[in-house]
Amino acid sequence: MFAKYAPNSAKVDGSQLSIGGVSCISLAEKFGTPLYVIDEQGIRENCRTYKEAFSAHYANYELVFASKALCTIPTSKIISQEGFGFDVASGGELYTVLKAGVDPKKIYFHGNNKPIGELKEALTAQINCFVVDNFTELLNLEKLSRQLKKKANVMLRINPGIEAHTHEYIQTGKLDSKFGLNQDKLLKTIDIIKKAPDLNFIGLHAHIGSQIFESKPFSEEIKVLLQLVKKLKNDHKVNIQKINVGGGVGIAYQEKDQPLNLGSLAQLLAKTIYQECKKLSLDEPVLILEPGRSIVGNAGVTLYTIGSIKKIPKMKNYIMVDGGMSDNPRPILYQAIYSALLANRACEKNRTVYNVAGRFCESGDILIKEIKLPEAQAGDILAVFSTGAYCYSMASNYNRVPRPAMVIVNKGKARLAVKRESYEDLVRNDLF
Ligand code: LLP
Repeated sequence: MFAKYAPNSAKVDGSQLSIGGVSCISLAEKFGTPLYVIDEQGIRENCRTYKEAFSAHYANYELVFASKALCTIPTSKIISQEGFGFDVASGGELYTVLKAGVDPKKIYFHGNNKPIGELKEALTAQINCFVVDNFTELLNLEKLSRQLKKKANVMLRINPGIEAHTHEYIQTGKLDSKFGLNQDKLLKTIDIIKKAPDLNFIGLHAHIGSQIFESKPFSEEIKVLLQLVKKLKNDHKVNIQKINVGGGVGIAYQEKDQPLNLGSLAQLLAKTIYQECKKLSLDEPVLILEPGRSIVGNAGVTLYTIGSIKKIPKMKNYIMVDGGMSDNPRPILYQAIYSALLANRACEKNRTVYNVAGRFCESGDILIKEIKLPEAQAGDILAVFSTGAYCYSMASNYNRVPRPAMVIVNKGKARLAVKRESYEDLVRNDLF
């Protein structure tokens, strides 16, 4: 392996970086920069690692890709071919995965404030399940299912009250979170579902956060969910078939990061379920997982062209690239740290410390603080690793900069997956 944050297919041939058997320099020349490069094999391998891990330890499982991490038609097709279902968090994500040919029966709809129009779209598409976040949403869904004469499966997202050690903005399971029903509201909510002829209650959902490196919060989460399953069964004669533990498995952005081993995680989760179910006299439920980042994150690399170089003696050196916070807002939002190299001079010794600055009119638009690289020159190609998740999907048009293209590389071939936006695209909805 070249580096743990890079796709397995990343190689340095001569002095050039290649991904999926394709030289990054030829990609930059052919498709321009900034460019999102997605390694198809990397996505497939990540999907397969999940399948192998859970098949080995807990056969009764379902894998659902959190499409908020990366949502395009071509990447959704790949993930769907690997047998994954999809978690969508908006009408736009739903539309995209349906266009990709995803079976509606494999789609879960999430969100803490689903607009009525989007609930209608999902009911009409006959998706598998609505993961209801709050009481108002449930009332809306109940009414719409009656009006449209559509049946719907429902899971309830509960707030497990668990704090995972990750950035505050991506913790979601704490008690003061905007997400999920607090547990004291659960019964009232289930009563409504029971009385609604078109709604079918199938289980409980929770999600504790993202970019998590510890396994214990996940097993704690399972314990909380199973306690609730027991309570609902005993006190209210409600039988629960499925528990969904959300996503959150972290990936390496730097060499020092230690992502969880999925085999060990699957083993721990299975053991927790077996032990708790025995203790609580419950049947073992279907376990649903919703990984996003850990499926696509390390499969992505972004290529930039270096333009200006600014050296402030005894202070700082900047290299400026042709993208930044609009194609990757994670450093400015979460102080995320990335690894990178010069793709055209990958064998040269790193000797100068640089700050990699984006092109946007914002002092905080620094993609990487203090990274050692070879002495850089204008025209060098910078490859930033682990950008497959939450970069394209969170990209913006800040400063009216068109969003980059995306290519998928595999076995020595590259195909355009998403076209670079044009100026025409930028003004398409503006009225004169
Ligand atoms: N399921 C639910 C209900 C979620 O809210 C999320 C992520 C996932 C699954 C997938 O989590 P993952 O496996 O990707 O960690 N924009 C932030 C991450 C926000 C995550 C939001 N929810 C970032 O760039 O770090």
